[in-house]
Amino acid sequence: MRVTVSRKAHFNAAHRLHRADWDEAQNAAIFGKCANEHYHGHNYELIVHVTGTIDPETGYVIDMKVLRDLIKSEVEDALDHKNLNIQVPEFKSLIPTAENIVVVIYNKLKSHLNTDQDLEVELYETPRNFVKYTGP
Ligand code: NI
Repeated sequence: MRVTVSRKAHFNAAHRLHRADWDEAQNAAIFGKCANEHYHGHNYELIVHVTGTIDPETGYVIDMKVLRDLIKSEVEDALDHKNLNIQVPEFKSLIPTAENIVVVIYNKLKSHLNTDQDLEVELYETPRNFVKYTGP
């Protein structure tokens, strides 16, 4: 019997979508306003789902406090109120699209879960634009 435990979280961050090896015209054509050299911000909403078996002793799949603290230390502390391009090492050479951000978040959380716990991460960049990653 496998049950999914979910928790929502939130962070604000700035980014810019841009390739240094493209000229400004190509960056503008592909990334549009998101290529703006002065950056822009998003209110990111995150939903983390952990699926696993119920521990018969505790009745938990994962302790919600553990999940909350993990999201805080791995995601919020690392990304909240940051300029993703400049301040977050993972994006030094990776464009901080929603797609790449959700993979980075997944990888940061996954390494702290038990191997029998499945992880799914949803990331809302705007209320209407969101991505989901469930692993490779
Ligand atoms: Ni953006």
